[in-house]
Amino acid sequence: MYVFKAGVVGAGAMGAEIAQAITWSGLPVILKDVDQAFLDKGMARIKAIYQRRVNSGRMSQADADGKVALVTPTLSYEAFKDVDLVIEAVPEKLDLKKRVFADLDAALPSMSIIASNTSALSITAMAEATRRPAKVVGLHFFYPAAVMKLVEVIACKYTDEDTMDTAVEFVEGLRKLPVRVKECPGFLVNRILMAAMNQAILFAEETNLPKAEIDAVLKEKTGLPMGPFTLSDSLGLDIALDVAQTLEVLGPRFAPPQSLVDLVKQGKLGAKTGEGFYTYTR
Ligand SMILES: NC(=O)c1ccc[n+]([C@@H]2O[C@H](COP(=O)([O-])OP(=O)(O)OC[C@H]3O[C@@H](n4cnc5c(N)ncnc54)[C@H](O)[C@@H]3O)[C@@H](O)[C@H]2O)c1
Repeated sequence: MYVFKAGVVGAGAMGAEIAQAITWSGLPVILKDVDQAFLDKGMARIKAIYQRRVNSGRMSQADADGKVALVTPTLSYEAFKDVDLVIEAVPEKLDLKKRVFADLDAALPSMSIIASNTSALSITAMAEATRRPAKVVGLHFFYPAAVMKLVEVIACKYTDEDTMDTAVEFVEGLRKLPVRVKECPGFLVNRILMAAMNQAILFAEETNLPKAEIDAVLKEKTGLPMGPFTLSDSLGLDIALDVAQTLEVLGPRFAPPQSLVDLVKQGKLGAKTGEGFYTYTR
């Protein structure tokens, strides 16, 4: 199935950037949120991404304006009547996502695909909130979605082959790199990444070595763009903890380290709160 028009529900950090990535490929996109202020913030984020490209001479102002005009911001599901594929990017709460899936199921044509950008929740459970479970899939973009190429395309218990193929082709059309994954705790990337981040945190707890030193060595030796503590702080320690907790079913080695739990309890969530593993001056 070809996707002529896409939708994104949730105009936050991920939703706005996913909508931008869709317009970059030339497709129109409906962007929905629950509050005009959030919608305005999402549109400002999209415009800022294009403006940076104009300012650095990579595109003309007219082209950038044309791309931004492909986004239709809305507070209702009215405009979703002829949308072929929608990506849900609302906060990581299963009840909320199930409600959004039920609303989308009622608003969309019966053949349309409903995708979730969840980091770790059950896509199968979201599919069960609809009358089209075979048309439900995970599309897990990474932050910042405007830049990051990898997208996990996740088959839940019910996803049919047509839906997987359409989702993969859609991602390729965005000039991104799809990887097919079968639903499991942490999917592919977080299962590996969180296990590695946990080990780095445990290593710091056990050795008392400075985190900056561990970050620097791992960055230098592995060629990663940043070390695990910097990465955790920029992701948000609350998000890191949420994901780590979903992996606990894999065994005690996957349990979140105590220092991560303690920082989240103290509200030290990383760069966004000014303190996490490191302290940030604004
Ligand atoms: N931030 C990341 O690094 C990251 C990376 C990958 C995946 N994710 C996942 O993406 C999803 C969104 O995360 P985020 O960081 O963009 O969250 P966010 O809090 O920045 O944005 C969520 C947006 O959804 C809106 N919203 C809430 N309820 C809604 C509803 N019923 N209908 C429409 N909009 C609604 C909110 O107003 C808000 O604007 C989560 O599932 C998260 O786990 C996040």
